[in-house]
Amino acid sequence: MAVLPIARMGHPVLRHPAEAVADPTAPEIRQLVADMWETMVAARGRGIAAPQVYVPKRVVIFHAPLTEDADRFDLSAQPLTVLINPVITFLTDETALDWEGCLSVPGLRGVVPRVTRLRYEGLGLDGAPFAREATGFHARVVQHECDHLDGWLYPQRMTDLSTLGYVDALPAAAAAADD
Ligand code: NI
Repeated sequence: MAVLPIARMGHPVLRHPAEAVADPTAPEIRQLVADMWETMVAARGRGIAAPQVYVPKRVVIFHAPLTEDADRFDLSAQPLTVLINPVITFLTDETALDWEGCLSVPGLRGVVPRVTRLRYEGLGLDGAPFAREATGFHARVVQHECDHLDGWLYPQRMTDLSTLGYVDALPAAAAAADD
């Protein structure tokens, strides 16, 4: 495994749609996911998408609380999800606002509107399809990570850029948000 360099906002790899993975069980995908995991842990992130490590493939990994009552900040209590070739279906028009950060936008946080309920499906590392419904913060994490596969970073989703700021200058609520 290896800690990989992380692409930062402005690099074209973050702006272009990523390619579908032909064979999720291929050794190079297993290696990619292992390297993404090590990179995410080293950077203290909650999730990471393959384009963030300069690999334009539709692979994301993340820790998210799978139930509303789970502790949002205790990553060790949240399973690691590996999601390949994801497809999201929104189940509501309702959105909610919350702080987000991103390993590709280091040092900054901003308030982002996200849809509050969705279904996502994709393939795991074993090539088997799976699907989940997600609400709240779980749904937010899925949207943030999958946006990376289509060339979107969270600042592009913001509707009030006055909330974009440096984490050490923003209110404490922003500091509590994850990368
Ligand atoms: Ni991100």
